[in-house]
Amino acid sequence: MKDALIEFLSEKGVLITPEALDYVEKDVGDVGKLRSALSSMDKIPRILGIDMIRPMIEGGAAEAPLPDPPGEDRFIKVPEIPVKIDVLPGGIRIIRDVTGKSRSTAKVESFLSTFRDRYSRLHRVLRSKPHLKYVRRIGEAAKKKGEEISVIGMVRDVKETGKGFMISLEDPSGSIEVFFSRENLKERPLLDEVVGVFGRIPISERGKAPRMFGKRIVWPDVPPHKMRLSDEKVSVAFISDLHVGSETFLKDAWNSFIKWLESPEARDIAYIIIAGDVVDGIGIYPDQEEELEISDIYEQYAALAKMVEEIPERMTVIMIPGNHDFVRPAEPQPAFDDDIKKLFGGDILFAGSPSLIEIHGVKILAYHGTSINDFINVLPGVSYEDPSMALIRMLKSRILAPIYGGKTPLAPEKEDYMVIDEVPDIFVTGHVHSFVKSNYRGIRIINASTWQSQTKYQKMNNFKPDPGVVAIAELHTGRIYEKRFYA
Ligand SMILES: [Fe+2]
Repeated sequence: MKDALIEFLSEKGVLITPEALDYVEKDVGDVGKLRSALSSMDKIPRILGIDMIRPMIEGGAAEAPLPDPPGEDRFIKVPEIPVKIDVLPGGIRIIRDVTGKSRSTAKVESFLSTFRDRYSRLHRVLRSKPHLKYVRRIGEAAKKKGEEISVIGMVRDVKETGKGFMISLEDPSGSIEVFFSRENLKERPLLDEVVGVFGRIPISERGKAPRMFGKRIVWPDVPPHKMRLSDEKVSVAFISDLHVGSETFLKDAWNSFIKWLESPEARDIAYIIIAGDVVDGIGIYPDQEEELEISDIYEQYAALAKMVEEIPERMTVIMIPGNHDFVRPAEPQPAFDDDIKKLFGGDILFAGSPSLIEIHGVKILAYHGTSINDFINVLPGVSYEDPSMALIRMLKSRILAPIYGGKTPLAPEKEDYMVIDEVPDIFVTGHVHSFVKSNYRGIRIINASTWQSQTKYQKMNNFKPDPGVVAIAELHTGRIYEKRFYA
């Protein structure tokens, strides 16, 4: 019973505290009750505590509480895992994704490994920055009284004070409070980002925690980038959020897209990348069944498989999952299981979200974009209509979903797959149902559009999606253009 429960929760990317586990095992004695309680929730919590689980089972679902911020001992040493490279026929290889490599367990401590890995990967990027002089471990900073030094730490807290900001930073050796005047901090760091700070350690110490006066803050960021180009004349089409199975799936727009793919104008398109939410799923939000045309998850994928078969055979389709798809909701999400894959015939490549995919020498980072919701909450200028500043921030912090404890469910993995290790040439997301193409330091940014018209929920929130737009990237020139299939 205990093993079955842990396995079930781990598949969902949910962690359980020992007391809650005890309660389900001894007092409830039935995994089924928990299973049905969880599936009736529109937002599955990441960490199940006793206070949460009791009302769920004894009546009504409770709001998911935010987990406690991890303590100072969250950094533990993990062994280096060599990156496996999957080489696939036809000029594509998946450089990095979680599929088949997940080492997630239903243990809270596993997050320590994720954070440790995030820190060491980004420390590597930051320590070579010219703006960070005399980099020291945070644990040694207190001894450098009156000196100017730099530290690299994970952001644990950001507080606005009367005169500026107090930022708590942590590294494996300790933590430090860094005070920034408003003048020295034009942009605030986000929780769980890893940043470098240059500043001065005061001569006199007050309080317990070591302090620093910050002069400059540095993000890992991407260097100015020149896009790699393919030798072959080849293009990739980017689409997302088909939501097949929903009443609002735009059949006519899809059919005109398919028709266009057969036209001479589309002759160079050899790949189609779909950035997740390929079906609408079931039980994703309350009363979803009222808006479903196909209410069986396998039938939704079977319908999609039929649609994909209409895509000209010379094109390879690459599909990653999203939060509506039938894989664990916690990120990084692996590719679909065999029971879904077998519904599809032909040349389809299933990858995880996020995935770094190389096509004819051009590196494409594909991520569904669930974390955009968190950026909308904390970053000025980010909206559902225009998520480009969120994508830029992901590149700047080199993390696709930095905030732990927000709306994005994250799975504890030994490696932090959400870190952007390699600088991509093209970065694509979906999820927010709008269309954006932009450029940040030479990296092409695309938020791929949807094939679903305005849903009831979107109408209620006064959001107008921008469906039926396809972004086409010419890998041999670097040009990106759009085609519209929904009038
Ligand atoms: Fe989505």
